[in-house]
Amino acid sequence: MSDRYLFAGARVVDPASGRDDVADVLVADGVIAPLDTGVADAQVIDCTGLVLAPGLVDPHTHLREPGREDKETVETGCRAAALGGFTAVTPMANTDPVADNAAVIHEVLDLGLKAGLCDVFPVGAITKGLEGEAMAELGEMVEAGVRIFSDDGRTVPTARVLRNALTYVKAFEDVVIAEHCEDDALAEGGQMHEGYHSYSLGLVGKPRESEEVIVARDIAVARLTGGRLHLHHLSSAGSVEMVRRAKAEGLRVTAEVTPHHLVFTDEDLLTYDTNFKVNPPIRTAEDRDALRAGLLDGTIDVIGTDHAPHAVEEKEVEFDQAPPGTIGLETALAALLTHLVEPGSMSLGRAIEVLSTAPARLIGAADHGGPIEPGRPANLVVFDPSAEWVVEPPFASKSRNSAFRGKTLRGKVVHTMYQGELVVADGKAQR
Ligand code: NCD
Repeated sequence: MSDRYLFAGARVVDPASGRDDVADVLVADGVIAPLDTGVADAQVIDCTGLVLAPGLVDPHTHLREPGREDKETVETGCRAAALGGFTAVTPMANTDPVADNAAVIHEVLDLGLKAGLCDVFPVGAITKGLEGEAMAELGEMVEAGVRIFSDDGRTVPTARVLRNALTYVKAFEDVVIAEHCEDDALAEGGQMHEGYHSYSLGLVGKPRESEEVIVARDIAVARLTGGRLHLHHLSSAGSVEMVRRAKAEGLRVTAEVTPHHLVFTDEDLLTYDTNFKVNPPIRTAEDRDALRAGLLDGTIDVIGTDHAPHAVEEKEVEFDQAPPGTIGLETALAALLTHLVEPGSMSLGRAIEVLSTAPARLIGAADHGGPIEPGRPANLVVFDPSAEWVVEPPFASKSRNSAFRGKTLRGKVVHTMYQGELVVADGKAQR
């Protein structure tokens, strides 16, 4: 098979170079090639009406391997990623065993290489066993290639431990400490956002403040240390405002939001559908609108899917028994296109920036996020912005707990190219 491809007549959207024009893009031997190097023997891929962009990068993924391969493996998660247009993912450390040392990191890296569907950048735990006390082996994990540390699923319980971690990573210019912001005591027993709907449903709620007190604490510790802090999956308007102020002050703080927090509100939980049970909880329309505004004005830097696969038998139970999480890799792009770009609130360029260029920068994935220029690795996505589809299983993910199930979305990935290879062609995974 040819290793030269000509994407013909695509709308090329590339935030890294500011490009948004209709053009041909040639790929040869795994990299973008100048058009004048000859297109005669290239396989021509007609991209009329389609958008070509740098492959998407997810800074927040759960792949469940090692430990819960019944929910997801690195391979199935990477296939879901490729079908969603992602060329890089960052599996979180809350596996079993926890990714708190170089051996587990190498295992996940090897599984990613074996799958060969996208780049896998494993996240290392901040603390041993995610227990919030002793620091994990950050140094050996940095040597193994880790650029982002997080105890995601849990919050670093004390400002002291966070201070140590943020201070430690200052020695490495490109290493980030990321936080799941939730005060355990305030959130205890909570099943959803605390407010009118939690009262009417009779479910214990988690107040906004359970997130906000940790965001405030963490920003203070970022100020104290000067370390690089990333805040996972913000859910409340108050958190957005605190990050806005921290950035104005010049602190090294970045923030993330998930597609589900941008689309849904706590009213969606009136059905008791456990696919809407996520951490942090989906909050009110006011919070959702503040998250959208934060994403538009640059307060929030990146989209993270927080792809969190769970087994059917775990999710199809009483609401308070179900684990939190929704899968998200296969729907993230379409969710953004449908709910923000199509209605005109967000430009396509900004959508690609928050789904690709900015997360690539955040996780230090130099081969991703563009620019789409000769010599650059060919990690690309081609999608049809107007194709409508209904989100229903089967998914490429091993799990089916999607908050978007039954929803109609616009925007479908047609091709995903990873390192010059079409891993998804005509909407189908090639391996
Ligand atoms: C996460 C998971 O399942 O690993 N779930 C989620 O809803 N975000 C862990 C967590 O953050 O609780």
